[in-house]
Amino acid sequence: MRILVTAGPTREPFDSVRFISNPSSGKMGFAVAAAAAARGHTVTLIAGPVGLPDPKGVRTIHVVSSAEMARACKRCFKASDVVVMTAAVCDYRPSRPAPHKLAKSCEPREITLVPTEDILASLGHMKTPSQVLIGFAMEDRQPRRKARAKLERKNLDAIFLNGPANIGSDQAEVELLVRGGRWQPWSRAGKKRVADRIVRLAERLCAHAVDK
Ligand code: CTP
Repeated sequence: MRILVTAGPTREPFDSVRFISNPSSGKMGFAVAAAAAARGHTVTLIAGPVGLPDPKGVRTIHVVSSAEMARACKRCFKASDVVVMTAAVCDYRPSRPAPHKLAKSCEPREITLVPTEDILASLGHMKTPSQVLIGFAMEDRQPRRKARAKLERKNLDAIFLNGPANIGSDQAEVELLVRGGRWQPWSRAGKKRVADRIVRLAERLCAHAVDK
């Protein structure tokens, strides 16, 4: 199976030295990439800026902004059987980053933010019946309802519901919804163990998609 994994945050600059971002550690996506490689799959990892070493046996592409991640994902998508999109892509970016460092002033400063591309939704549009798309949803309110809506809107085969407590942790507690199925809570476990289960799920969904 050829598997594309995304991980980590993106950074959206507002001047030449500053950016907006989020505290995603990338641990979940790196663990999925490593687990897939260990099971003999061909793995491409598209990673935002994180402090983790490249996993062994994995082709790792480093990106910084959501636009770079979108370009890399679209470039690699055709040659992928499965995508596992764990990246915490910034939903907004400053509309016009200053080309120089903004100097301090006593006045308030406003930065206009514009939406970034929803990469997973774009891949959902491009997807063929034999390709499998797995997304993550980070929710703190009405979690199941919102995650199910994301599965539909982005044309996913499965979605993992994730709480803010998982950010940066070595442990993860997730719930899984496979298209056409019911919610399955997975017990809390180390991200390596969860990653291994995600890869096995991807294998099953991929086999099923190819049979269709
Ligand atoms: N995602 C993406 N591109 C974006 C934002 C999110 O590909 N610009 C992907 C994430 O990698 C994740 C899924 O979409 O797999 C859901 O991300 P999440 O942040 O939970 O949801 P959003 O779609 O951004 O919606 P909201 O922020 O309104 O909850």
